[in-house]
Amino acid sequence: MSFMNWIDERFPATKVWNEHLAQYYTPKNFNFWYFFGSLAMLVLVNQIVTGIWLAMNYKPDAELAFASVEYIMRDVEWGWLIRYLHSTGASAFFVVIYLHMFRGLIYGSYRKPRELVWIFGVVIYLVMMATAFMGYLLPWGQMSYWGAQVIVNLFAAVPFGIGEPLSEWIRGDYVISDATLNRFFAFHFALPFILAALVFLHIVALHKVGSNNPDGIEIKKNKDENGIPKDGIPFHPYFTVKDVVGVVGFLIVFLAVVFFAPAMGGFFLESPNFEPANPLKTPEHIAPVWYFTPFYAILRAIPPLFGSQFPGVLVMFAAIAVFFVLPWLDRSPVKSIRYKGPLTKIAITIFVITFVFLGYLGVVPSSKIILGLTATQWAQICTALYFLFFALMPIYSKIDSTKPVPERVTK
Ligand code: HEM
Repeated sequence: MSFMNWIDERFPATKVWNEHLAQYYTPKNFNFWYFFGSLAMLVLVNQIVTGIWLAMNYKPDAELAFASVEYIMRDVEWGWLIRYLHSTGASAFFVVIYLHMFRGLIYGSYRKPRELVWIFGVVIYLVMMATAFMGYLLPWGQMSYWGAQVIVNLFAAVPFGIGEPLSEWIRGDYVISDATLNRFFAFHFALPFILAALVFLHIVALHKVGSNNPDGIEIKKNKDENGIPKDGIPFHPYFTVKDVVGVVGFLIVFLAVVFFAPAMGGFFLESPNFEPANPLKTPEHIAPVWYFTPFYAILRAIPPLFGSQFPGVLVMFAAIAVFFVLPWLDRSPVKSIRYKGPLTKIAITIFVITFVFLGYLGVVPSSKIILGLTATQWAQICTALYFLFFALMPIYSKIDSTKPVPERVTK
């Protein structure tokens, strides 16, 4: 009996290999937008592996944390590389995920029957944000400290006497302190494994219904006499090989940043974070890392009500939570942007410009004047446009003209 037979009688290795790779039929018309799922998995593995190695020399102690990171950078063999792979990896993760989500948005991949694939995705996105936020405290630099101070203080805005005790409970203290650092380290270590489990569920849900594609056609509706989708090709070897091309392209760009611009002009590693945390000295200008800035701009756009920041906090969370209901907002008879009309195309273009501009507005001081308006006023306009994209979707997606969708995938 062969070794594989011995295994298969005890563990469904060949069965899983066939069902999910060698005989998993994938639309043949995937384009480059389909690289980002496998790239996200690659970056997640990179974060877990480099994170474990960083943890071997990192000290989650307010007295030692900053120096332990410097020790990793200067004295630990290859420590600088491990740290830059991890810090650049965090930004790369969000670049890849934003592109992955955008792909879902333009091809209608969130629509029936893939609602759960999308919802697992939004949960992944939330957990990624929590992980990145807690990781940013660990180097215990000025921005780590004050960024965490600002964000945890937001919870204090919750009314009915809940806010204050809630923010103290999160910190474990009245201010960000050693206790906070310790627990953030514990969570930052644990959450990537939760992410890995969520990615597993994301893929299980996807493989149950099958992938969408740039034409938004359900290939399972058109099968040959053997029950194989006519427009499907086995994932392995065709897409495993194609994904390697994506990985090589990604690594060229990623490693160029790691080796030549790991701080990325203060966007990936912010300048004040090269100074140790000082609870007595607030940095002149506190801004989160770039991947949070669109939401930070939305938070700052909403004025306080009776001195409470709670409305801003609510609107900021709503800006993320609205993605959960996206599958039910789109009423278009077609899925892919290729067959949607001008209204949807204009709406998506405005949405992308708005999101990127909000990202910029989150970095600059609120009082900065841009074309005659303050950054806050622009953020208010953009916040309105952001929510209108979703609120009006049931209308424009329904009345928009559409092109006829072909029977079979095009290219
Ligand atoms: C750790 C993060 C994530 C990983 C590793 C991941 C991985 C994957 C993989 C491998 C695929 C199949 C290949 C592909 O279609 O590109 C996929 C598909 C998909 N993902 Fe993700 N994903 C992540 C996060 C997200 C997020 C945040 C969203 C949306 C909020 C999302 C939405 C989707 C959708 C809708 C599909 C189906 C696309 C289609 O069939 O056209 N994913 N994901």
